[in-house]
Amino acid sequence: MKATAIAPANIAFIKYWGKADDARRLPLNPSISMNLSACITTTTVEFSPDFEKDTVSEGFDEKRILTHIDRIRRIAKINMCSKITTKNSFPASAGIASSASGFAALTVAAAAALGLKLGELELSVLARLGSGSACRSIPDGFVKWEDSYAYSLYPPSYWDLRDILLIIENNVKDVSSSAGHEGAYTSPFFTKRLQEVPKRISRLEAALAKKDFQKLGEVIEEDCLDVHHVMQTQSPPLFYWNEKTRQVIRAIKKSGLPVYFTIDAGPNVHLICEAKDEKQVIDIFGNTYQIIVNKPSRGARLC
Ligand code: DP6
Repeated sequence: MKATAIAPANIAFIKYWGKADDARRLPLNPSISMNLSACITTTTVEFSPDFEKDTVSEGFDEKRILTHIDRIRRIAKINMCSKITTKNSFPASAGIASSASGFAALTVAAAAALGLKLGELELSVLARLGSGSACRSIPDGFVKWEDSYAYSLYPPSYWDLRDILLIIENNVKDVSSSAGHEGAYTSPFFTKRLQEVPKRISRLEAALAKKDFQKLGEVIEEDCLDVHHVMQTQSPPLFYWNEKTRQVIRAIKKSGLPVYFTIDAGPNVHLICEAKDEKQVIDIFGNTYQIIVNKPSRGARLC
């Protein structure tokens, strides 16, 4: 009873921040993301009557992973212990949504190892219980998450965009996004954000439908700035950016190139551009930062 799955991380163009239900990780607002081809988690899950206890690869959040494994064992009505081996192709816990790719890969591998026959929607619901953003790493390409599950808006081949990810810091972040969501309500700007998001979702969907890159980029930056405004005005405030993050933003704005930034719960900067501008964007940063070039990717799948 063994299966291996891979899953991509995803970058949110409109971000998920704040939960309607903490335990079930139901979001207060819809979000839209793109799966990332070069930020991948590979996870093998094995269940065996010979295992005396559950084991998880070192360096990963064992408690949270085993809580999720318990959920899937309960659905399958199987009590065997598990061995979980997982690795990321990118630095974990630096705001690169390692929990998204991690819980998507874990869900697909564990369900298959236990012989559960789940469709994409059910896998997305289940992955969400492990980490909200993980539900967006199940479907392919450009993905929308509303309420309990996520679905594909467009396949990866729809638009040849790039997410040029600059790794500004590899260190584990101080406050996890899970903890951060809980404080969202304390920001005086949070209610305003929730009112604005539906309009932004419509604008982003229209930009995607028309492949209007400038409009897409403008909405992405607006939502990023808005969510970080909320984070920084929560109690306690969350400052995920640092001076290098700001330097990168200044450099791309000065370049005049058609490239837009977005940032999750960490200092690293995702630069969104079209394929034709990839080289020029990379050239701005020369050898200053480790760079991961992502294309739109398929969602989670068995290997
Ligand atoms: C800022 O999905 O990591 O990256 O549901 O508690 O696991 P949990 O939170 P998580 O939150 C991601 C927050 C974000 C924005 C986004 O990816 O939409």
